[in-house]
Amino acid sequence: MYFNNYETLKNYITFNIDTKVKRICSVKSVEELFILWKYAKLKGWPVLLLGGGSNVLFISNFYGLIILNKIRSLIITESSKEWFIHVGSGNNWHQLVKYLIKNDIYGLENMALIPGSVGAAPIQNIGAYGMEFKDVCHYVNIIDMNNGNKRCLDVTECQFGYRDSVFKNKYRQNFAIISVGLKLKKLWKPVITYTDLKYLIEKKVTAKTIFDIICKIRKSKLPDPCLIGNAGSFFKNPIISNTTAKKIKSIYPLCPKYLQVDGTIKISAGWLIEQCNLKGYKYGGAAVHINQALVLINNNNATGKDILYLARYIKKKVNEKFKIILESEVRFIGKYGEINSINSVL
Ligand code: FAD
Ligand code: EPU
Repeated sequence: MYFNNYETLKNYITFNIDTKVKRICSVKSVEELFILWKYAKLKGWPVLLLGGGSNVLFISNFYGLIILNKIRSLIITESSKEWFIHVGSGNNWHQLVKYLIKNDIYGLENMALIPGSVGAAPIQNIGAYGMEFKDVCHYVNIIDMNNGNKRCLDVTECQFGYRDSVFKNKYRQNFAIISVGLKLKKLWKPVITYTDLKYLIEKKVTAKTIFDIICKIRKSKLPDPCLIGNAGSFFKNPIISNTTAKKIKSIYPLCPKYLQVDGTIKISAGWLIEQCNLKGYKYGGAAVHINQALVLINNNNATGKDILYLARYIKKKVNEKFKIILESEVRFIGKYGEINSINSVL
């Protein structure tokens, strides 16, 4: 197959890489999505549904159809104690957070300014500043693209974990998230456990203040994808054993690590990368961000392969120094679709 009418994905992916794709189409309803998907499959085209393109790295041109998700809706209902938010998967996550706060519905403020669509939020159980999607999730509606059957999954069925869910496993291939239900308590309590928020006073702080603070912190730490292409954290923070944590701590007493509720320890991948002297390190057009080593950037017309090789180098260096294998958070897309086993890529 070759490309007749090359279209660039540059404006639809936050890495801003000039990936070429055979066809791009957007859908506004679940019906349109199903029809288009079926048509592509009949034609034998690979299909990929994209939200904001903020968690994908295209390694090469894509020989198929990209469907842009514009399935938008918002229905808010309430009980005496809770708000119920039913929202289309094509809505923008940050706009939703902003809209709810403006309408005095609180509980999402810690997750302000996370790019991308509502529909992608459950997939990696997005999280930031002491909160995760699972904490506010009521249900997730999916469609099976093989037959059009729809299913509503409750929180337990979603099997949420750190940057993980059933949508990365059992419901990864040939399923689409079409809408999401959130449940927010009317009796709001601030979440100020994250290091950067600990100085706040529980009784005085408002949801709007937290929203503003989070936006400010994020703008100071993370590069704006409109200016510098990136996909947020490239790797996950590794979960390590107590023994490894103790070993690292004995050599590096200042190493930032966090005890998880299940007793395991999460260590900061950004810190591990920084210890390998890789901040600002460049490969081709790709670079390690100078302020946040966990973020790889499109520094100068990077290709997907530049970013990939840089990530490989980082992974090798961290493993050599700490005997820790970094796992990528970003999803890799090849010629015909997602490359499932990251080990074959990284
Ligand atoms: P896309 O990149 O469009 O898609 C990601 C994957 O999900 C693809 O494989 C795609 O095919 C699939 N997919 C998308 N929509 C659907 C759907 N409806 N049904 C089925 N499959 C679908 N993440 C965090 O958790 N916390 C953060 O703090 C955070 N900060 C970030 C900061 C920056 C600057 C950037 C660029 C990214 C950040 N991210 C963060 C990562 C990213 O924002 C999230 O992973 C987000 O949920 C991705 O949404 P998206 O719509 O852009 O997904
Ligand atoms: N650190 C360094 N050097 C660096 C980066 C970080 O030493 O270059 C250390 C610092 O000590 C810092 C600590 O790591 O205090 C934590 O850094 P930060 O608060 O920036 O958070 P993170 O662990 O690097 C995670 C998420 C982010 C999320 C923030 C805030 C992952 C993989 N990343 O980053 O999510 O916004 O916490 O909660 O869990 C994303 O997933 O794309 C993402 C941006």
